[in-house]
Amino acid sequence: MSTAEIRLVRNYDRAAWFYETSAAVFSGGQIRASKKYTAAQVKAGQKIIFLGVGTGEEAIIAAQRGAHVTCLDISSGMLERLEARMKRRGLKAEILCQDAFQHDRLGYYDAVAANYFLNVFRHDDMQRMLKHAAGLVRPGGKFMVADVALARGNPLSRIFNLVYLKTAMATFWTLGLVPLHRNYDYAQYFSDAQLKLNHIRYFRLFKGGPVVFQTWVATKKKSR
Ligand SMILES: C[S@@+](CC[C@H](N)C(=O)[O-])C[C@H]1O[C@@H](n2cnc3c(N)ncnc32)[C@H](O)[C@@H]1O
Repeated sequence: MSTAEIRLVRNYDRAAWFYETSAAVFSGGQIRASKKYTAAQVKAGQKIIFLGVGTGEEAIIAAQRGAHVTCLDISSGMLERLEARMKRRGLKAEILCQDAFQHDRLGYYDAVAANYFLNVFRHDDMQRMLKHAAGLVRPGGKFMVADVALARGNPLSRIFNLVYLKTAMATFWTLGLVPLHRNYDYAQYFSDAQLKLNHIRYFRLFKGGPVVFQTWVATKKKSR
């Protein structure tokens, strides 16, 4: 591991105890809702992997739905908490402490979820990771991303989106958890990763407020 990666892992290990709760408070529960939406797309018996799973609230839901869940993260601090939560509920999941780039089960999963994960990478690495993650999905399977939303709606909503999400990014950057970058429009890279956008679900702050989070659901193309 490079020094930068070691630092990143250390920072996520340290953030493990507050990460999910602070995200829930900051987003009024909408980060949780956007992640839960990915778990709701998976059926009992299907194989799903959550990349950069963190402490994995949505992985728990997928396991409760009877899916075969794989949870992957580079931070052992995050995974220890997730493992304890799964155990407390009598749930089973495969837990892998690994760099997602090293995970090479190509075409193996019915679904891959990359929730609030791709935004920890700078643009070029994000593109590489998206393509790699899409490669893990079987043809016809699902690829899902819950993440911060692109600004949309009236000018006031757009300004709010900008200020709100940039403040969050600056806070996370201060903690050494993400690099500074613009909000990514993941759908732009789907075609190159053999993905077809199925639909996008938007999540509004305080339900009727501005759109601040969104979940992309795509299908892996079948090779002819
Ligand atoms: C922003 S957090 C999101 C965690 C979780 N998905 C959530 O939404 O609560 C990003 C996660 O990705 C993990 N991560 C960062 N780089 C990684 C890599 N190269 N491979 C696997 N996990 C990584 C971090 O340890 C962290 O848990």
